[in-house]
Amino acid sequence: MSEQPHEMRERWVLRTELLWAFGVGILVAATISMIVFTALTRNINPPSNVERIDPKALHLSGEFAEQNLGTYVAPDGSVTARVIATQFMFAPHCLALPQGRLVTLRFASPDVIHGVLITGTNVNTMVVPGYVAQVHTEITQTGELLMPCHEYCGLGHSEMWAVVQVLSAAEFKPDRDGRVTCAQR
Ligand code: CUA
Repeated sequence: MSEQPHEMRERWVLRTELLWAFGVGILVAATISMIVFTALTRNINPPSNVERIDPKALHLSGEFAEQNLGTYVAPDGSVTARVIATQFMFAPHCLALPQGRLVTLRFASPDVIHGVLITGTNVNTMVVPGYVAQVHTEITQTGELLMPCHEYCGLGHSEMWAVVQVLSAAEFKPDRDGRVTCAQR
């Protein structure tokens, strides 16, 4: 009872198929575990919240009105910084953040798509008009970090940047309204 050539061929096809499926399975597992690993240990996540906001009314009232911009420490101690990215500046131009503390950054744009990153941190997001871009971070170093716009947004793109002043626990002191602004230097 010897095998017919086509039976042998079928067995060979099945073996290669299984081999490829196995290889692809390993690749997929490795990719997923890398995503989970960087998410858990380094807080690198894809932007996941979808929050809409009317770009035409940003500055008029609500969360991104002028008096609400910048760093705010809530009574429960949570730190939130709100920034408007607009052609061709960030408001505020300097952001005071605490070192070694969880911070929520919220960005919105009234005009075009901007991008924002804080050098040396995991903060890196697009700021799309109509949506709030939210990022969580904990900055380990103190000192001044550059926060440039990294999405071409028009002729003044290269002039669009802000500074992040990372303050130690002793320097990071909210005022009576919970606001923290950059120290004058
Ligand atoms: Cu804003 Cu480039």
